[in-house]
Amino acid sequence: MMVLGVDIGGSAIKADLVDVDAGRTAGRLLEVATPRPATPVAVAETVGEVVGRFGWNGPVGCTLPAVVRRGVAHTAANIDPAWIGTDAEAVFSEATGLAVTVVNDADAAGVAETAHGAARGRSGVVLVLTFGTGIGSALFVDGTLVPNTELGHLELDGHVPVEAWAAARVRTDEGLSWETWAGRVDRLLRHLVALFSPELIVVGGGVSRRWDRFGHLLRTGVETVPAFFGNQAGVVGAAMAARR
Ligand code: BGC
Repeated sequence: MMVLGVDIGGSAIKADLVDVDAGRTAGRLLEVATPRPATPVAVAETVGEVVGRFGWNGPVGCTLPAVVRRGVAHTAANIDPAWIGTDAEAVFSEATGLAVTVVNDADAAGVAETAHGAARGRSGVVLVLTFGTGIGSALFVDGTLVPNTELGHLELDGHVPVEAWAAARVRTDEGLSWETWAGRVDRLLRHLVALFSPELIVVGGGVSRRWDRFGHLLRTGVETVPAFFGNQAGVVGAAMAARR
């Protein structure tokens, strides 16, 4: 079954057609800048354009960098605050004329990694983290998602939220060395290990493609691997969410 997956991030909106049974994208990844300000109206317009560019007329799965319950956004960290309380599924369905399912972006990435990627077939507690504009989290117990964990919003060593100190974006914005940034990521991962005792940690987001630069600097004491889908995990997981 093919579904259009749309991953809405703080900086970019990515989309591709996804074979949700195989967990494979069509390889036509489209990436456009997230409108600024990223209001519901502006983002919905962009999503409408994206759907049009694919000439798509089937189900659509969308992510948002927000707590999403039953299609409604309840927070907005890297998008416009007007999202809070907005029925995102209704807004996107209206803009596209199609059935749209909306989930948290990191939860989507985690679902893709658990079903078809780096955490495939793994039981126990698995933590998938995405490092980008913010830090997203997806927590799994025997393959079942605990949604909306928002671990990037924890306080750590006086940094509130910790994502403002350790997201991938902070490395480029502050011109940090890989060593300095990886030290921050390592501090966060160790904290999360103490809280959740995961058996596996999957590090995702676009920066996971640079694993050779920082993977060896992480000493979590737990199996810690880069995401299989890199920065396309959200697109794949969004599409998978629409099937369910
Ligand atoms: C948001 C999360 C999101 C993460 C990654 C955070 O700022 O609160 O919902 O998953 O960024 O995009």
